[in-house]
Amino acid sequence: MASFLLSRLSLVFLIIMFLSVACLANFYNDFDITWGDGRGQILDNGNLITLSLDKNSGSGFESKNEYLFGKLTMQIKLIHKNSAGTVTSYYLSSKGPTWDEIDFEFFGNLSGDPYILNTNVFTQGIGHREQQFYLWFDPTIDFHTYTILWNPHRIIWSVDGIPIREFKNHESRGVTFPKNQPMKIYATLWDAEEWATRGGLVKTDWSQAPFTASYKNFSAEACIVYSGVSSCGDTSNTLGLAPWLSEELDTTSRKKMKFVRNKHMTYNYCSDSKRSPTECKLG
Ligand SMILES: *[C@@H]1O[C@H](CO)[C@@H](O)[C@H](O)[C@H]1NC(C)=O
Ligand SMILES: *[C@@H]1O[C@H](CO)[C@@H](O)[C@H](O)[C@H]1NC(C)=O
Repeated sequence: MASFLLSRLSLVFLIIMFLSVACLANFYNDFDITWGDGRGQILDNGNLITLSLDKNSGSGFESKNEYLFGKLTMQIKLIHKNSAGTVTSYYLSSKGPTWDEIDFEFFGNLSGDPYILNTNVFTQGIGHREQQFYLWFDPTIDFHTYTILWNPHRIIWSVDGIPIREFKNHESRGVTFPKNQPMKIYATLWDAEEWATRGGLVKTDWSQAPFTASYKNFSAEACIVYSGVSSCGDTSNTLGLAPWLSEELDTTSRKKMKFVRNKHMTYNYCSDSKRSPTECKLG
């Protein structure tokens, strides 16, 4: 009887331990600061990461896990005031010469002038698929929510829950799509004053350094790949799997996306007459 009670108690104890670990899921568990010599910091019991940049170096962090598909959300607050010449990023990338990559990049600006949000997708090492936006809010005052939805059918970039771009899987029409190479999540803050702001016309004002960007409240619904095996199992048919694996835009979100694109898009590689990429014609 006593030993029965004891094992019951230890079971309860184990469950409590497990639950508290799940609740504490935070930046310590999910990410490593990988460069910047102390300029990147995990703070607030693992709820906040700050990256900073000065004349000597930027900084960055990356996920411990590798993902093959995911709905990966991060809240980011960009550098306040003068951020000219800086680039803040939140992106996914695999490794090697034929890598895949899905990007959110924020090009800084003079105080009061708009950041540019650059989105891009690389498949097998080939990118040049930029679409750029002015944001409809000041991204330096508060945290805003940036989501990459990457499933076998499409990639959707969203800002505060509003989709701004969709890149569909057109493999059947000969357009490569990232779906075989696991990717890690990366976030970086670095300087690119040669080109980032007004094509390099405006340089970084180093008297304002250090520059700081903040990340919090990461959330993931994702397939984690460990030793070549996906936690989602076989995703070649997503029917009956987690809903995000077949998520698509409904009429309402499509309308919202159209509105943002009409009103806030500043560059679209699809409109570049010298290029005319296949996927742009397929819609
Ligand atoms: C910075 O502000 C200028 C002037 O409003 C604008 O032309 C430019 O697109 C803005 N953003 C960047 C990253 O250059
Ligand atoms: C964290 O993000 C989730 C969505 O990913 C959101 O519902 C929640 O309100 C956020 N929490 C805070 C404290 O901002």
